[in-house]
Amino acid sequence: MSPDMSVRRLGRGDAPAAARLHAVMPEPWSDVDWTGFLREPIVLGLGAFADDVLIAAALLRSVAGESEVLTIVVAPDRRRGGVGRELLAAALEETARSGAKTAFLEVATDNFAAISLYRSLGFVEIGRRRGYYRRSGGAVDALLMRREGGQDRTPPDAGR
Ligand SMILES: CC(C)(COP(=O)(O)OP(=O)(O)OC[C@H]1O[C@@H](n2cnc3c(N)ncnc32)[C@H](O)[C@@H]1OP(=O)(O)O)[C@@H](O)C(=O)NCCC(=O)NCCS
Repeated sequence: MSPDMSVRRLGRGDAPAAARLHAVMPEPWSDVDWTGFLREPIVLGLGAFADDVLIAAALLRSVAGESEVLTIVVAPDRRRGGVGRELLAAALEETARSGAKTAFLEVATDNFAAISLYRSLGFVEIGRRRGYYRRSGGAVDALLMRREGGQDRTPPDAGR
């Protein structure tokens, strides 16, 4: 991540910027959706900022020692620069510090960039939900992925 960037917790005031970032997704979350997530005490929202502009956002929900990656999105013109991996690694570290022993997520099987990002952070595939995502071109399966280990875990590809 370049020196002009910083990572901090998202507050409800960041909801509009987060919703603008998320608008690229097939099922985007609105300003109201983000506000709802960010007010939940069990949800961690982390944002990467460049010159105070939100360029990436991640949301994780932790329950009973497990954290779920709800979403991560990086501004299109900031991708492939390590921002997504650094932000998600920071979020996983924070949920682990708060007691999460495992993390899991669902990702569309056609989202190669995200699957590759998750693998690079130590997530492995544990299952599949058939036809989980409805798209205009037809349904797409969801891949279920899990990452074991809490605070002291060092993923095999970390820091590449
Ligand atoms: C998935 C996403 C968050 C990745 O963010 P990013 O900042 O570009 O990712 P990074 O630069 O940190 O890349 C980390 C690793 O992910 C993988 N990766 C990222 N983008 C990739 C791509 N387009 N193709 C293949 N692998 C990719 C690579 O393994 C990469 O490691 P490397 O650079 O050492 O090869 C970004 O593409 C995005 O915002 N996509 C749209 C939103 C989305 O689909 N979110 C996930 C579902 S909720």
